[in-house]
This record gives sequence, structure tokens and C-alpha cells, in this order.
Amino acid sequence: MYSVTEKRIIPKFVRPIQTTMSAYPFHAISNTDIQFFSELLGSNALFSEEQRVNYGHDETEDLSFPPSAVLRPENTEEISKIMSYCHEHGIPVTPAGARTGLSGGALPIHGGILLSMEKFNRILHIDEKNHQVTTEPGVITQVLQNAVKEKGLFYPPDPASKGSCFIGGNVSENSGGPKAVKYGVTKDYVLNLEIVLPTGEIIWTGANVLKNATGYNLTQLIVGSEGTLSIITKIVLKLIPHPTHDLLMLVPFFDAQKACEAVAAIFQAGITPSGLEFMERDALTWTQAFTGETSIPVADNHQAHLIIEVDGFDPDQLMQECEKILGVLEGFETDEILFADSDAQKNTLWSLRRKAGEAVKAQSIYKEEDTVVPRYALPQLLFHVKEIGKKYGFHSVCYGHAGDGNLHVNIIKGDLSDEQWNNELPIAIRELFTEVIKLGGTISGEHGIGLVQKSYMDLAFPEVALELMRNIKKVFDPKGILNPGKVF
Ligand code: LAC
Ligand code: ZN
Repeated sequence: MYSVTEKRIIPKFVRPIQTTMSAYPFHAISNTDIQFFSELLGSNALFSEEQRVNYGHDETEDLSFPPSAVLRPENTEEISKIMSYCHEHGIPVTPAGARTGLSGGALPIHGGILLSMEKFNRILHIDEKNHQVTTEPGVITQVLQNAVKEKGLFYPPDPASKGSCFIGGNVSENSGGPKAVKYGVTKDYVLNLEIVLPTGEIIWTGANVLKNATGYNLTQLIVGSEGTLSIITKIVLKLIPHPTHDLLMLVPFFDAQKACEAVAAIFQAGITPSGLEFMERDALTWTQAFTGETSIPVADNHQAHLIIEVDGFDPDQLMQECEKILGVLEGFETDEILFADSDAQKNTLWSLRRKAGEAVKAQSIYKEEDTVVPRYALPQLLFHVKEIGKKYGFHSVCYGHAGDGNLHVNIIKGDLSDEQWNNELPIAIRELFTEVIKLGGTISGEHGIGLVQKSYMDLAFPEVALELMRNIKKVFDPKGILNPGKVF
């Protein structure tokens, strides 16, 4: 069984720790500040170099920016006091969950405070009568899923890091995962939030109801705001009945493009799978090599696989759905389709899929682009990725949530020179994102913009829209102390 505290790898290619970006206009931490935080939090205020280095990275590439102090508050009032103090003194604060993010959202690039939410780890109330759960943000997503499952309830969003990421981080990044294709992403489950504003006030953003037409939707403004508008301290989530059955198949294709074409065809046949994942050949073989799990045969001529899951409450209906899917796949030149016939096999396959990101990370320095296009454009997206790769001489390993048109494009440094990597690759990525936008897509499906994608935001939005966003940020955070240097 997949462990809820699944160990994730320490990045193998660690570059020297970056010094923080210009501290201006922020105030460096003084001895008086250290004394204030120590008196407020006791041993939950950390200042040693080792601790600061430890909290200075998430899982984004090989980036590392140690903060000046790590604070681990235990309740909302402590956060309110921290924010009031930092607002008054102009100290930057970067909130962090389990630091499994892939866009650098939790990197304290301007130094200051790293506000770790790890002590907020209690599920407060599972409301079985209303199918809701109220939780603190530092609960591991899979722990939350397991707790509600014991009551027959389902919280579907399941990012690959679900065994280690925090639900608060999922809300902040609007995380997705394989189940999103049928059940939606994090935003579709968030009903209400308790937040602390950068100025220290505490508010609830909405109400614990399924419908809400009362004023602006502050709840959804906070979802996906990447810790730039507020600190989330309580989360109310919608739940649904947990499906009782699922079937899982693995489909090998001789041509990766054909695998992508098959995706929209499955939906056009009237089926909505509960997972429809794509793994390019290298993604699967690298993950097999990384995990040592080689029970799944990959023939020399297999160029890509689709992992297809259907779920529900009626086994006969699921069999009919699978038969329909098999009918669709007959038109797409597949090799023999394998069905997982035990929970162990299902877990093996899903675990391999979830570990693709770690496997790539262990192999080389890389950059990951979280491209997303309307589903039917997926084959064109893959085509552009490979064409641009040929033009600029990079190798890419692609996998992702094909049913959502969401392809994780991992660009491998391999033999590329530093000059190519640092100067030419951003031009290539710009070219790729330009194609993505032409296809009707956008530059991040589920990993967020954070630090590493912000220079491409002008492709996704006109200046007027970006200015609206900057103004929203100013209303919440007039001094710009909360997670500075992120998103735009
Ligand atoms: C995944 C992460 C990288 O899908 O989003 O594996
Ligand atoms: Zn993903």
C-alpha cells in the first residue's frame, strides 16, 4: 500500500545556494526582530544556518534560497501577530507548506521569514451530514483523503506528491492530479477559507455552503494565489461519496502522437475516465530504472503509454465503459492492452506514474513546463514540443494528464552548454508557450507561476489584466511583504 509519508528524493543536482535577491525595499532581520519572534514562538522560531538552508528550497529544479528565519506558528493568532509585526517593519514573509511545489512559490527569494505551516496539522471536523471537512492547511493531502474515506467520503484532487504535500499548498497552487479529469481540481472543492491578511487581520472568505452569490468571490481569489495575498489558516472542503469500484488499463502505443489523438476520441465516445494519463517512452523507462519496478513490459517499439482508469459504483457499467474504450482504441494501432487485475498491480502502476517527476529529477538538471491546451489540441502540442526541441537541440521527456490536455514537458539539460541552457532555452520556452497560447492553452495547468514561470506571464495576459492583478495584490498587501517576487 502506498505510504502516506512517502519519502521523496533529495535533489541530486544541487547548485550552490543562491544569495537572496536584492533585499531592497525590505528590512533585514535585526536582533530586535529575532528577540520578538523568539518571545512569541519559543523553540518554533529557528535561526541556525542549517535550519535556514533546510527550509530554503522546495522541489523546483535545483533552486535554494535560505531565509533569515524560519517560523513555525501553531495557531492563527500567532500568525496574525507575525504579520502585523512584519507589515509594520517591512519584513518579507514567504508562506510554505510541505515545500513540494514545482514553480518556486515557497522559495524565500528576498530572505526574511519562511512561515512554515507544518504545525497546522489537524483535521478539525468531518461533517458527514453535509459532506464537508474543515481542516488546517498543514495536513498531508493523502492523510485527509484517507480520513474522509473512512466515512465513505471522497476528496478527489490527488497531486503526484499527495503522500507528502499539504492541503494548504494544494489550495494555494490550485493543484490538480490524475483525478481532475473527471472530478475537477482543488478549486472545485474549496467552499470557505479562514485567512490572515498581510496586515494581520483574520477573516473568513465565504460561507460553508454549496451555493454562494454573495458579493465578490474572495474564496476563489485566494485559491491559486500562491501565497501572495494571505496566509490560509483553515479550509472548508466539499466532499462527495467515494466510488466503490475502479478498473485500470495500460495501453502501449507505437506512436506517441497517436496516443495523444486517442485521448479526445475516448471522450467523444461518451466516456469520462477517472484518470487518463500519458507517459512518453522515456518517462516510463526512466521511472522504472529509478524505482527498480520493472514488472510492466515496455517493448522496443513502444513509444508511449496511456493509463486509463474508470471508476464508479456499478461494476457492470465500468466493464461496459472499458469495452467502449477498447472499441475506440482499435482505431489507434496499440499493442496488447493490459488490465491491472489486483490492487497491488493498480498501486504499482499509479506509483510509477506518480514518481515520473522524481525520476526525471534524479537523471539530469531539467526544467519543467506545465503546458495545458484544450484536450483535442494535445497531439499538436506534443508536435510543437518535439519540433522546438529539434530546433534548439534539447531533449524533452513528456508525461501528464492527457485527459485534461495538461502535458508536463521536462526539458533535459543533458549535454547542453550553460550558454545554451541559460540564454537560448528561455527563447525556446517562449516559443513553446507562444504555440500553447495559439492552441488556446495557457502556461500552467496545475503547478503555478511562482518564481520560475513569471517572466512568461505577458504571453498569457495583456498588460491591462496584469495591472489588475498587481492592483489586487496592492489592496491585500500594500507594502508587498507577502511572498514578494512571485507570479508577476
Ligand atoms: C505529476 C506532477 C509533476 O503529474 O504534477 O507527476
Ligand atoms: Zn501533474
